[in-house]
Amino acid sequence: MSHTDETLAAYDAIAGRYDELNARMDTSGLADRFAEAIARHGPGGRRLLDAGCGTGRSSVAFRERGFEVTGYDLSPAMVALARRRPGAEGIPFLTGGLEDPPPGLTGFDAVACVDLPMAYLTGEDGLRRALEAARRRLREGGVVVFDLNTIGYYRRTFGTPAVADQGDRFVTRFAVSPRIEPDSVVVTQFDLFERTGERWERVSMRHVQRHRSGRAVREAAEAAGLRVVAAHGLAGTELRDPPDEDEHDRVLYVARRPG
Ligand SMILES: C[S@@+](CC[C@H](N)C(=O)[O-])C[C@H]1O[C@@H](n2cnc3c(N)ncnc32)[C@H](O)[C@@H]1O
Repeated sequence: MSHTDETLAAYDAIAGRYDELNARMDTSGLADRFAEAIARHGPGGRRLLDAGCGTGRSSVAFRERGFEVTGYDLSPAMVALARRRPGAEGIPFLTGGLEDPPPGLTGFDAVACVDLPMAYLTGEDGLRRALEAARRRLREGGVVVFDLNTIGYYRRTFGTPAVADQGDRFVTRFAVSPRIEPDSVVVTQFDLFERTGERWERVSMRHVQRHRSGRAVREAAEAAGLRVVAAHGLAGTELRDPPDEDEHDRVLYVARRPG
């Protein structure tokens, strides 16, 4: 199975429980940081492509901040939920991959990849291909904004196996990769055990991501015809400057199409 197929299988399998399992993620705070970056570095318009929109949480957050949103995602099951999300009425939701987006999307002021869609691009050339695809969907001066995990986050979070005990639900996670190295693929195994009555149900999935150093991101952006104009560390949803690959959880990148 390819890494993309593993990602698709993982999100299709978990789609129905995604919002609940991910309830602690502050999508609203993250959308604020993205919107601020777009206001500061973008061309001023409000047309936004939410690439890797999942169940539409980020799409609705952007709409609430005054953007005219189109969303797409790799997982048809996630897209089906986005279409039913309260507050998302009228937002077009499509299915497609970051490296090969749905046809007919052009002239956006911003492409936003919120909460790690770009981290799932594991191929050596995957980020460049996705950034190039995003550039083709932007008007001149438009920006791609995306977040990626730091190496420190991968090591802290997946370096040792962990179990979350929530009574009738246990979630276990551990890194399958023997070592977690910069600019390398990190394979994490998640197992979700849920009790219904006397029966326990198990859902297993692998999340295959790739860490990218700031240098690798800049090189990929340049090769895609974009320039990284800002990089901020993220601690939760608070910005920290300059980004620190050991200390911070994520880095928020802004790459601009010239013009
Ligand atoms: C953690 S979720 C974030 C969803 C949404 N942006 C939000 O903030 O709620 C990551 C999403 O990225 C999507 N994704 C992963 N790899 C992708 C790819 N190659 N192309 C498009 N979407 C992808 C997954 O299907 C998943 O819905």
